[in-house]
Amino acid sequence: MTHAPLVLSGMQPTNTLHLGNYLGALKNWVKMQDQMPCLFCVVDMHAITVAQEPAELARATREVTAAYIAGGIDPARSPIFNQAQVPEHAELAWILNCVARLGWLDRMTQFKEKSGKHKERASVGLYTYPVLMAADILVYKATHVPVGEDQKQHLELARDIAQKFNNDFAAPDFFPQPEPVIMGPGTRVMSLRDGTKKMSKSDESDLSRINLTDDADAIAGKIRRAKTDPEPLPENKDGLAGRPEAENLLSIYAALSDRKLEDVIPDFAGKQFSEFKNTLADLTVAKLSPVASEMRRMLADPAQIDRILRDGSARARAIAAPIVAETKKLVGFVG
Ligand code: TRP
Repeated sequence: MTHAPLVLSGMQPTNTLHLGNYLGALKNWVKMQDQMPCLFCVVDMHAITVAQEPAELARATREVTAAYIAGGIDPARSPIFNQAQVPEHAELAWILNCVARLGWLDRMTQFKEKSGKHKERASVGLYTYPVLMAADILVYKATHVPVGEDQKQHLELARDIAQKFNNDFAAPDFFPQPEPVIMGPGTRVMSLRDGTKKMSKSDESDLSRINLTDDADAIAGKIRRAKTDPEPLPENKDGLAGRPEAENLLSIYAALSDRKLEDVIPDFAGKQFSEFKNTLADLTVAKLSPVASEMRRMLADPAQIDRILRDGSARARAIAAPIVAETKKLVGFVG
């Protein structure tokens, strides 16, 4: 049996979204809508694996929803919903917690990074986070999961869990083996202050990232102050070796203009950074300001966002409920 193609992806509603989320995820999700049916989740239950202020969690959930739509996801075509409004995620996660092995979770590098030195003080939820992520995907029998490089290990785990469930309950091919869709080159956006570090919402310096809600002056200022090196821009891709900041800024330019890195390099070959930065700032403002203004417009009417999430959740539940019902029957639950 082959599984019908279905895309599922999600983002955590923590802090504000930045250019890395837009170019690395959202822009690619928008394109996937033309290729397959898609579901887009705001993973609020993942967010609480670390402490969240409740009002801030609600605000960020609405903001991420607004960003999905402002960035081009059409909620009429692709249900947008928050995880907590689809209880089947938590229900399946429990069953999958009993399928996954401790040894598998012990190998998850993200838990090691996030829990730091004081592992015993991390929440149990943070430890079992990847199992909830597997449930997010398998609860819809999703086949394609767009994720960044940093989530590849979690997706491998989801595949292992799916396979073990199918074996343990003698249900070959019940859950699919979800495929990672790793975003193309130029979509890994790096910090503006250090070209070797990923652009991140947790970086102390706000100058390191361009937030989706930054205004034109803030965007231009951050690009002007972005770290560079003293050389003029290179003639070709080889000239980017050992120049992570130049590579990052050119990659951002390429991604924003929907062109390949190698195709944009000749436009700036031999030029000074100051000149290139002006062009990059203008392009970034031109691409992001419609997104930001649409987000602001939507956030002024939170009741409308909540309606979209309720509608998306109902449509997501309609897919998930029969799959969970079948899963429970396989496990031997009476009902
Ligand atoms: N763990 C993902 C991240 O931090 C977010 C996520 C949760 C996700 N569930 C998912 C992504 C399911 C894809 C599919 O980026």
